[in-house]
Amino acid sequence: MKLADQVVVVTGAGQGLGAALAEVAAGRGAAGVVVADLDLDHATSVAARIGGFAVRADVSTPDGIDTIIEQAISRYGRIDLYMSNAGIGGRSTVFDSDEAWTRQWNIHVMAHVWAARALLPEMIRRAHGGLVNVASSVALSSQPDSAAYNATKHAALAFAETLAIDHHDQGVYIGCACPQGMRTPMLMGQLDGAPPAIAAFGLASAIDPLEAATRIIDGIEADRFLILTHAEVQTYAQRRAADHDRWLNGMRRMYQGLATDL
Ligand SMILES: NC(=O)c1ccc[n+]([C@@H]2O[C@H](COP(=O)([O-])OP(=O)(O)OC[C@H]3O[C@@H](n4cnc5c(N)ncnc54)[C@H](O)[C@@H]3O)[C@@H](O)[C@H]2O)c1
Repeated sequence: MKLADQVVVVTGAGQGLGAALAEVAAGRGAAGVVVADLDLDHATSVAARIGGFAVRADVSTPDGIDTIIEQAISRYGRIDLYMSNAGIGGRSTVFDSDEAWTRQWNIHVMAHVWAARALLPEMIRRAHGGLVNVASSVALSSQPDSAAYNATKHAALAFAETLAIDHHDQGVYIGCACPQGMRTPMLMGQLDGAPPAIAAFGLASAIDPLEAATRIIDGIEADRFLILTHAEVQTYAQRRAADHDRWLNGMRRMYQGLATDL
């Protein structure tokens, strides 16, 4: 789906990958770019820089998604491409509260569902439009100490796959971005204070968010469903699919190796 002359919404666009996606979308000639974020100051400053339109909204509730859609349509008259990018990081385990699990579930899965439910009927009617969900490379693998993040990002990919099976032939483009490490406030915050071996490992393959956003928008413009920012993720996914037990043993050994090196 080419971005020129399209009205594009990006959630979580106040910083990090979302801000970079909004910037690249504007650079590709989008007719309008909606910069949606929980943090209005950040959204306003990104919008001012790229000539977009800032909206404050919380994607963890259906009302928040409605606010983004209503304000985007009231400003630009339509939405052509909706990029559901907002996410939250942090370590999580099975012992975290239901509230913590529900927050990740709502932001990483239901935000995509609510947006698709609201936008698909009009996109199908026009036989035009696109929905892109930003999941993570962990949707194709899993990382240690991230139970809720892994589970919800896997679910985000599965949901996007289902949309692509059910609605592609109705003229709607569906994409799922599965980035690996990017030097955004999320990743830098997680690595800040982490044991040196883990921090060095996390940073080793991390790329600039603008580079990641360029690769993602190239993937959208090439009509690809699965969009990676790091080619090696394809190899990890193939190894995992070929022999799950061997892959799990490798993950445990790698993490134990890092842990004993602390
Ligand atoms: N940074 C990485 O290495 C990495 C790797 C893989 C996937 N991702 C995914 O990429 C996406 C963007 O991550 P990032 O690294 O730019 O994160 P970030 O924390 O740097 O930025 C996220 C933005 O989302 C906003 N946000 C958070 N919760 C929100 C909510 N409920 N409603 C509206 N806005 C909200 C924040 O205010 C912030 O501006 C996320 O979905 C994340 O899971 C990041």
